[in-house]
Amino acid sequence: MYRILLLGSGGREHTLAWKMAQSPHCEKLWVATGNAGTAQVAENVNISPLDFPAIASFCIENKVSLVVVGNEDPLVAGIRDYFQQKEELRHIGLIGPDKHGAMLEGSKDFAKLFMFENNIPTAAYQTFTSEDLEQALQYVSNQALPIVLKADGLAAGKGVVICQTYKEAEITLREMLVDKKFGNASSKVVVEQFLEGIELSVFVLTDGKNYKILPEAKDYKRIGEKDTGLNTGGMGAVSPVPFADAQFLKKVEDRIIKPTLEGLQKRNIHYVGFIFIGLMKVGQEPYVIEYNCRMGDPETEVVIPRIETDLVELFASTAEGRLNEVSLKVNPQTATTIMLVSGGYPEKYESGKEMKNLAEVKNVLPFHAGTRQENDKILTNGGRVMALTAFGKDIKEALEKSNLAAQTIDFDKKYYRRDIGLDLL
Ligand code: AMP
Ligand code: GLY
Repeated sequence: MYRILLLGSGGREHTLAWKMAQSPHCEKLWVATGNAGTAQVAENVNISPLDFPAIASFCIENKVSLVVVGNEDPLVAGIRDYFQQKEELRHIGLIGPDKHGAMLEGSKDFAKLFMFENNIPTAAYQTFTSEDLEQALQYVSNQALPIVLKADGLAAGKGVVICQTYKEAEITLREMLVDKKFGNASSKVVVEQFLEGIELSVFVLTDGKNYKILPEAKDYKRIGEKDTGLNTGGMGAVSPVPFADAQFLKKVEDRIIKPTLEGLQKRNIHYVGFIFIGLMKVGQEPYVIEYNCRMGDPETEVVIPRIETDLVELFASTAEGRLNEVSLKVNPQTATTIMLVSGGYPEKYESGKEMKNLAEVKNVLPFHAGTRQENDKILTNGGRVMALTAFGKDIKEALEKSNLAAQTIDFDKKYYRRDIGLDLL
């Protein structure tokens, strides 16, 4: 039996909590800090996932035996290293890599170097600091357009700019390197070749030796329909992805997943946790766009419900280095999710709106993202509010259910994309 602490407060964490709470191996589940959805399946605790001493005290006092880290910030800040360094915490299983492993997400420059070292297919690139602004401008002027500029560090999904003209690239380079538009995150900038293709993501769970490939998913990142407007955390997702056939996924495993795990071992990184691989399918070939050291959100909302294997067993065996003992069972049906967001997101938006008709929706799994409970009401509490996941025999059938629920649940200034998954039909 496991006493589990999950860190995070979005739709990803509600999904993970919902699934773990169903396990006979789950004795007790807490979520820090959680939302109104996690409160229905677990106990929320008001501790910041970045306050390591407070998390440590909580774990000791409550005899926590497994910590699952939902979001990247605590991993990049070194929560695993913190637990490893302290005698009284070392025995606690933790899902998530150490600081070095988390650099796959925390530093784009590190990730690119890692891919080149390990012959993993990815776009050509060069990295520049503010000292080499002139070389950077020179380099960019010799590349084909469009050209991709990426802030090296974590920039909450905003650090990537695809420049259509040399003028735009020059202005963006100056903003990032000289004006430090993304603070320290853009003290280095990766200049990268633009890849033309279709995106999807593959997720791997590893104990450092063994690995399981989880269902793939396609995410819809832009705020506007037909993929227009600003980037968001994600507006919807679909799994499985019809264009990711067995032959393509075999290439992903052989050319990307295996060399990634071998590359980590070569660097002596004992990586325990998720590797989220953002891919571009160029023709029939997979290229890595990015790595993340955690699951995606809203990809989790379609990937995890498709997993039939006990999630606590999966996590416990990962933490204990015996992932080979567990077999992964996946529901072959299609899952779709549509994200309800607050009008104005990903820019300025209002919170505290009462959510209506929640009890009326059927045939969906409503995963809370930015919500909170006040007396007997559920109020909006963030940009992304709720992910409505449904199953179907195909994308069309699943989407009908997700869409009906998205229409039914209501709050002031609700917005959602009506075209999630339509490009795949
Ligand atoms: P990232 O934060 O690295 O995932 O980048 C954000 C988005 O920018 C990706 O989801 C892609 O849509 C796009 N992108 C990043 N790198 C490239 C590239 N080399 N070629 C084309 N699009 C890219
Ligand atoms: N949905 C994209 C991400 O989680 O990074």
